[in-house]
Amino acid sequence: MTSPLKIKIKSKFKTLVILSSIMALTSIATAQETYVPSKENVEAREWFQDAKFGIFIHWGVYSQLAGGGNPGGEEWIMETEQIPIDKYERLGTTFNPVKFDADEWVLGFKSSGAKYITITSKHHDGFAMYDSAVSDYDIAEENSFGRDIMKELKAACDKHGIKLFFYYSQLDWHHPDYYPRGGSGQGYTGRPMSGDWDKYIDYQNAQLKELLTNYGDIGGFWFDGWWDHRNDDYKERWRLEETYKLIHDLQPHALVINNHHVTPYPGEDVQPFEQDLPGENHSGFNTMEVTDEMPIEMAQTMNGSWGFSLTDDAFKSTKELIQTLVGAAGRNSNYLMNTGPMSDGRIQPENVQTYKEMGEWFKVYGESIYGTRGGPIGPRPWGVTTRKDNALYVHVLDWKDSILTVPLEGVEVASATLVRNGKSISYEITNGGLALNIPMEELNEFDAVIKIMIK
Ligand code: GLC
Repeated sequence: MTSPLKIKIKSKFKTLVILSSIMALTSIATAQETYVPSKENVEAREWFQDAKFGIFIHWGVYSQLAGGGNPGGEEWIMETEQIPIDKYERLGTTFNPVKFDADEWVLGFKSSGAKYITITSKHHDGFAMYDSAVSDYDIAEENSFGRDIMKELKAACDKHGIKLFFYYSQLDWHHPDYYPRGGSGQGYTGRPMSGDWDKYIDYQNAQLKELLTNYGDIGGFWFDGWWDHRNDDYKERWRLEETYKLIHDLQPHALVINNHHVTPYPGEDVQPFEQDLPGENHSGFNTMEVTDEMPIEMAQTMNGSWGFSLTDDAFKSTKELIQTLVGAAGRNSNYLMNTGPMSDGRIQPENVQTYKEMGEWFKVYGESIYGTRGGPIGPRPWGVTTRKDNALYVHVLDWKDSILTVPLEGVEVASATLVRNGKSISYEITNGGLALNIPMEELNEFDAVIKIMIK
């Protein structure tokens, strides 16, 4: 656990005294009015924040169509191409990922430095990627692949020390009782224009119960699709309280994350951000305030697509991914980096290569990320800070001069070293703060990390 570190920050307008203690659990009551997370849950939140980095996996029967040539349409193809249910169901019978090897996957993900994975157990198309007894629209049926992907993955995760989270779509384009329809899934699917909404929620909760009881301890759930009803009364009819209670009763440590893009509801344990660093909003989704009442997590694609895309080769460079991860850590956020496995069960080779490069980076710089919290100096044009015990890590992502003055005052510095090689660098306390003398060659790194030990 991180001990309190009292640091004064020099800002243009006033000097702020930041008491950077662990997450202020006492303030949970404000937005989370009736919800008090259990002891196990609070511990799991700490674990989660320490872990910092996870791999997101969008894999389903849609992976076979690989977006049909439209980058961005992968897991949405049923909707974008208006494929009727009886036709789309064929994908469940042709999905045959014979090269799927859970151990290989998990070892590959682990090689990136990630500590957990979050995989689509059911996406908007309604197809369960595990053996569901309450549905015959699932991967383990006889006329389907016939194996329980989630079981295999969980066994591999346990073996290799990785935590498993399930993505689960509340929105469902297949279930007849998902009615009234929301902003998507209108008209084309071949469902009756009637249905019993509560029956659908019962079905959803029955599936969640299966995922909570048949796969041992899980990290938690990552919900998506709430926004399908954001513009109608059904946004209040998801029965979230009941669903979240079910989860916390069966697995108190399981973290509830919901990608609804609004202020967290009671019962939620992590606030997610999609395609943006917390506090930024380039995607248009992220208009909500960043909470300080629970951990936060940013999810991002490695190219522009969640599911496997035939045509989307716009892969972000390792530098860009690392810099985003560091930017997230400096904002006290986890980073969930997505891959869309191919329909034969392999991970795209481009991604596997990037994992290796990220893992190499973590071997050198891991101490400045794992187990840290956002540092006392907020994001700056030059980079961010993280902290752990009495160490303050200055992450210099974009700076051209050898002297960088960070607005720290009133601290007694014991040492300043480069994390890359442990070498000391010189520094000076000036009027503007702590002036660090960074060797120019360090500034060519993805992230020049200076470790400042505070007395
Ligand atoms: C959006 C997309 C969905 C994807 C999710 C991941 O909600 O609609 O397909 O799974 O983002 O963050």
